[in-house]
Formats: sequence, structure tokens, C-alpha cells
Amino acid sequence: MNKNAFRNMSYGVYVVTTWDNGRATGCTANSAMQITSDPATIAVSINHDNYTNKCIAESGRFALSILGENSDPGIIGAFGFFSGKDKDKFEGIGQTIKGCMPVVADACAYVVCEVIDKMETSSHTVFLGKVVDADVLQPDTPMTYAYYHNVIKGKSPKNAPTYLAEE
Ligand SMILES: Cc1cc2nc3c(=O)[nH]c(=O)nc-3n(C[C@H](O)[C@H](O)[C@H](O)COP(=O)(O)O)c2cc1C
Repeated sequence: MNKNAFRNMSYGVYVVTTWDNGRATGCTANSAMQITSDPATIAVSINHDNYTNKCIAESGRFALSILGENSDPGIIGAFGFFSGKDKDKFEGIGQTIKGCMPVVADACAYVVCEVIDKMETSSHTVFLGKVVDADVLQPDTPMTYAYYHNVIKGKSPKNAPTYLAEE
């Protein structure tokens, strides 16, 4: 099997946020997709070992901050390479509250979801969320996962579903 074929799949770059007993937290994720339009639903795949997984399961809600090409790339690292268990993920990162959820201010759009179902895999939980709020924050070109790799020269850690060992 040539896993490089997976590199030909397209994704965006998001920060999936939620509440941890009143404290905002979250992680970087590329594995988000719209599943239905009416009612609008979105799915995200979050590793069992990510602190965000436990927090989404407990709060029953998550938000997607959709990063743009002009979003600070440092946001991806801050949310993607540390755990919210030991760190305040929003330290030094602008936050805004939308639909009662914490959202990254330096994003081009956001979507707020209420968890309506989930599916367990061997390593990740796929949360299915019903969209309860969404809006555009600023005009920008949404960042693709390919842009993150090819232009920003970013890497993905093991907990990303799209991780390739040769990275
Ligand atoms: C570009 C990128 C994409 C990622 N995509 C995902 C993803 O879709 N699902 C996931 O579970 N982790 C993904 N990760 C890894 C998590 O962001 C990372 O494990 C994070 O440290 C988890 O933080 P937490 O423990 O606070 O939840 C990604 C990381 C990066 C940098």
C-alpha cells in the first residue's frame, strides 16, 4: 500500500475548541468535514489520547475555527504540539466567544456544533456535530492542509489521523 496516495486527499486546517470545566481548550485538526446540509452537520476525528477528546465528550459541544492563509501559523503549533492537560492553549492567542463557545479570533470563519453522535475507531473518536452557529470572521483564503505542508513547511504529529511515519 502506498500511503502517499493519502497526500492527494484535500483538507482544511482547523482549531477544534471546547470547554474544560469553564476553561477554553482545543487542538489543531485537519480531519473536519461537512456531512449534511440540512440540518447542517460536521464531523471531526479526535485521537483518544488528545485531552480535547475528553473535553468534547464531557461538554457535548465543539467549535471549529477555520484558519486562513493569513492566520498566524504559530496558532497551529500552539494547539497542535502541546496538550491542554498541562497548558493553557489560548495563552497569547486572541479568543472570542461565539455561540457560547471559545473561538480563535485570528481565523477566517467559525462553526459551533452540538455533539449528536459519535463513532469509535481503534485510535480516534469521530464526533458528529449539529451546527448551531456559524459565521465569517474576516475575508481570507482558507488554509488547506497542502498549503500547511508545502508553503508553511509544517509537520503533523502522530495523533493526527493523516500522520505519515516518513514525516
Ligand atoms: C496540522 C495538524 C493537524 C492535526 N490534525 C488532527 C486531527 O485531525 N485529529 C487529532 O486528533 N489530532 C490532530 N492533530 C494533533 C493534535 O492537534 C495534537 O495531538 C494536540 O497536541 C492535542 O492537544 P490536546 O491534548 O490538548 O487535545 C493535528 C496536529 C496538526 C499540527
